[in-house]
Amino acid sequence: MSPTSPDTTSPDTEPREDGPTFPPSPEFVADAVANAGLHDAAAADREAFWADQARSLLDWRTPFTQTLDWSDAPFARWFADGELNVAENCLDRHVRAGNGERVAIHFEGARGDTRRITYAELTADVQRAANMLTDLGVGPGDRVVVYLPLIPEAVVTMLAVARIGAVHSVVFGGFSAESLRARIEDAGAKLVVTADGGWRRGTVSPLKPAVDEALTGEGTDTVEHVLVVRRGENDVEWNDDRDRWWHDEFTKAAPEHEAQAFPAETPLFILYTSGTTGKPKGIVHTSGGYLTQAAYTHRNVFDMHPEKDVYWCTADIGWITGHSYVVYGPLANGVTQVLYEGTPDEPQPGRWWDIVDSYGVTVLYTAPTAVRAAMKAGRQIPEARSLETLRLLGSVGEPINPEAWQWYRQVIGHDRTPIVDTWWQTETGAIMISALPGVTKLKPGAAQTPLPGITAEIVDDDGRRVDPGEGGYLTIADPWPSMARGIWNDPDRFVETYWSRFPGRYFAGDGARLDGQGDIWVQGRVDDVMNVSGHRLSTAEIESALVGHEGVAEAAVVGAADETTGQAVVAFVILTAEAAEGVDREATAKELRDWVGKRIGAIAKPRQVVIVPELPKTRSGKIMRRLLRDAAEGRRIGDTTTLADPTIMATIADLM
Ligand code: PRX
Repeated sequence: MSPTSPDTTSPDTEPREDGPTFPPSPEFVADAVANAGLHDAAAADREAFWADQARSLLDWRTPFTQTLDWSDAPFARWFADGELNVAENCLDRHVRAGNGERVAIHFEGARGDTRRITYAELTADVQRAANMLTDLGVGPGDRVVVYLPLIPEAVVTMLAVARIGAVHSVVFGGFSAESLRARIEDAGAKLVVTADGGWRRGTVSPLKPAVDEALTGEGTDTVEHVLVVRRGENDVEWNDDRDRWWHDEFTKAAPEHEAQAFPAETPLFILYTSGTTGKPKGIVHTSGGYLTQAAYTHRNVFDMHPEKDVYWCTADIGWITGHSYVVYGPLANGVTQVLYEGTPDEPQPGRWWDIVDSYGVTVLYTAPTAVRAAMKAGRQIPEARSLETLRLLGSVGEPINPEAWQWYRQVIGHDRTPIVDTWWQTETGAIMISALPGVTKLKPGAAQTPLPGITAEIVDDDGRRVDPGEGGYLTIADPWPSMARGIWNDPDRFVETYWSRFPGRYFAGDGARLDGQGDIWVQGRVDDVMNVSGHRLSTAEIESALVGHEGVAEAAVVGAADETTGQAVVAFVILTAEAAEGVDREATAKELRDWVGKRIGAIAKPRQVVIVPELPKTRSGKIMRRLLRDAAEGRRIGDTTTLADPTIMATIADLM
């Protein structure tokens, strides 16, 4: 696949280089000096810099003597002869340091139920859970699929899996039974951890039935047990041979667990993400390097002071943000955080802001789509709250449009909090590009500066670095500790997808510009990956779900700009002759939307399904998605002269 030229699909106003900038906030000065020191240290000796971070941020049972082994590039090995236990680094050592009474998690359930869990309590829970997993036959290297709501048991499961050297693969609870099945099969999971159901907007959304359905499917006989947390209290079917209640097994398990040390390159997790084909990629991350960079970025980008900050990242653990900035980064740093199960406005508008006030949240990390949704609901809602404790705001998932940036800063940050716009990916494992609070003059809409230790560069079609003022492709020129170690079961695809377009460089799949001052403006994907509410979706995956429907002959999917979600899925389908006869367009469109929801998950449901007589194809049969995007965004249709049938776009535009 060769990338198309970068074109931004930002929904509202384009980011402006000459827009307002904001000086570094003076209250961050002390940390700014330290942060500036990081830049110098990394510039002087990048590898030594990372080795220092790994030593100072983590506890090693066996110190490493080797920092980076790049001899098998692009498969990196960091700190490879060192040994550590990831869970012990996130838990036990904080208790040993005398911080056992510090709150690790303020849990807020969707229905208003709360739990306050200290580091001592979380450590005890994870120790017992580690024994429970061992009792269920899970050992080092085994894969455990986690399909849970955002509840403390999800965090406990991930850490318990890590503690025993097994590998977790969290599947977002919004994914369908079929998506779950495919991931269970690819990972070869031995155990699935789920709940009866989770709470969503006042009702229970069942999870266990999806697991049951997935396990009737092909390729899932590796699964020996399903461990079920009681949460929704909905009725579930039970398979006595296979299914176990969490509360039964947990009580039976021994309370104490001695953590064993594992080599730094022990796989920690597999996380599936969408690519340019119909099959999701299992991105593999390992232990020592991943934890080093998760902890380093969490501490420095968010200016964390564990003894006084209350941090809240709103991401679900089903995404990489939840892995690195709900579980591993904050817990490695011993920080107090909020974990919230529900949506921003249940049961009342402004629930999020009530949570900020009731826990005194100081640092909030969320996505532009959530900011835009809050803007839409009206500023009177946050204005009725204090929000006084907030001192730093973060953004992740897509380029933040300047309007949303300004609103976030004014209405939520009361014009005083810095905003860090953090660019990174599932594959990068941790933040790569971001302003540092106190050091960087902030520019709304720009991710700005590679972090100390990261060599992010923008190159042109020939792989040459562009000059300030020019655009191109975002690449990373040197290995970094939390980089993906590969794609599960598919090393060739790892090389092909990320390392072949620009030899020697990691190609991120994003277009970007370098402005006159050398700041980076990320402009969005240049491949067939869409970004809906900060979540990656593949056009090919949705197309293949659509053509899996008996009434569909052909389908083309594009991401169209959307005011709230950034991009939205728009599908163009040609029906089979039988299905097309006397078709009720509206009913069929609804049926196909639901079909995609059932096959992949609700997040993949197209905003719009347009039934068309033909697709715009070149004479060689290639679908011109650019033209479909014009139609989906209500723009004037671009050049159609290379189409086999130049009139088709007028017909399609009429059908929109
Ligand atoms: O296009 C970029 C966009 O999200 C993609 C990565 O998606 P995912 O692996 O799901 O991880 C999302 C959370 C880290 C990138 O290729 N993206 C993420 N953060 C930003 C962004 N685009 C612009 N600015 C950001 N801050």
